Amino acid sequence: MGVRELGLPERIGSTDSLPSKVTIWEVGPRDGLQNEAEVVPVEVKLEFLDRLAGAGLTTLEATSFVHPKWVPQLADAEEVLARLHRHDGVRYPVLVPNERGLDRALAADVTHIAVFASATETFARRNLNSGLDAQFAMFEPVIGRAREAGLDVRGYVSMCFGDPWEGAVPPEQVVAVGKRLLDAGCSQLSLGDTIGVATAASVERVLDAFTEAGVTIGDLAVHFHDTYGQALANTLAALRKGVTTVDSSAGGLGGCPYAESATGNLATEDLVWLLDGLGVEHGVDLDALVETSVWMAGKLGRPSPSRVVRALAG
Ligand code: HMG
Ligand code: MG
Repeated sequence: MGVRELGLPERIGSTDSLPSKVTIWEVGPRDGLQNEAEVVPVEVKLEFLDRLAGAGLTTLEATSFVHPKWVPQLADAEEVLARLHRHDGVRYPVLVPNERGLDRALAADVTHIAVFASATETFARRNLNSGLDAQFAMFEPVIGRAREAGLDVRGYVSMCFGDPWEGAVPPEQVVAVGKRLLDAGCSQLSLGDTIGVATAASVERVLDAFTEAGVTIGDLAVHFHDTYGQALANTLAALRKGVTTVDSSAGGLGGCPYAESATGNLATEDLVWLLDGLGVEHGVDLDALVETSVWMAGKLGRPSPSRVVRALAG
């Protein structure tokens, strides 16, 4: 008999004050697939999105309207959105860097977009061909026009906990970038540990810096890459601070083509296992999700790095 049939993980709950419910922001179809050496066929992307919605995920970051030469893996964004089987109650945000990207997203009838800023100068140059200050000239008209069109806009801040070229990043610098995005009209910030170097201590420090600057904890999401195996510990630290939106990717896919040291995101299955034990509601069917990640691993030709997927797949 498998551990699931035996009722594991045991739903014990926590004596700490934790949110009763967490929204999982699934980034596998975007962050997961933007870094693949081979472009994943549209049919596989569509089935992946369909299976993820079937497993109960209600926020699926579907693709990016970035420059197709910069990220050829997602150059089929129009086709993916045109052929998407949209499930009721599921939102399908997309990444948009600039006004050209917004035009493309509006033509594809999106309702939720995300802009993505950098907390450091070097990554702003490498990822956006821009600069720490200059990047806002690109985002502000995007956010303004998107809001006028009735769209919801999330703002990512990358390199919040360390940068592969600049090292440690001062929390004040992260907060300054995040506040400019909120002031421009973003409804939520996702704090990215792009290269996975955060620890529970640096997560607490950055979240405290935001709340001390007057930002509501409910407006903050966390986005951990799992390079050093800290993503779950970091997530627990964020939950204890009151964060209620956690980004993750099915099977632990992911990375950033413009940050070579970036590896996969926190695996959604690992997150679900943790939330189950803590008694935090999330709405995801773990077995259906594991099945999806096993199927996807078959399509990609390599096993999922997620410990929970590997443990349950057998
Ligand atoms: P650029 O080359 O400076 O663009 O790239 P430009 O504004 O100079 O325009 C050059 C040409 O590209 C023009 O065409 C534009 O129309 C066209 P021309 O007039 O010469 O014929 N163009 C576009 N075409 C299609 N779609 C567009 C677009 N934009 C311009 N959107 C740009 C600047 C921002 C576009 C580029 O740097 C880019 O696409 N960067 C995206 C990189 C990326 O996607 N990185 C991964 C996502 S971020 C991430 O993974 C981190 C995250 O997960 C959080 C975390 O982990 O921390 C979110
Ligand atoms: Mg990422």
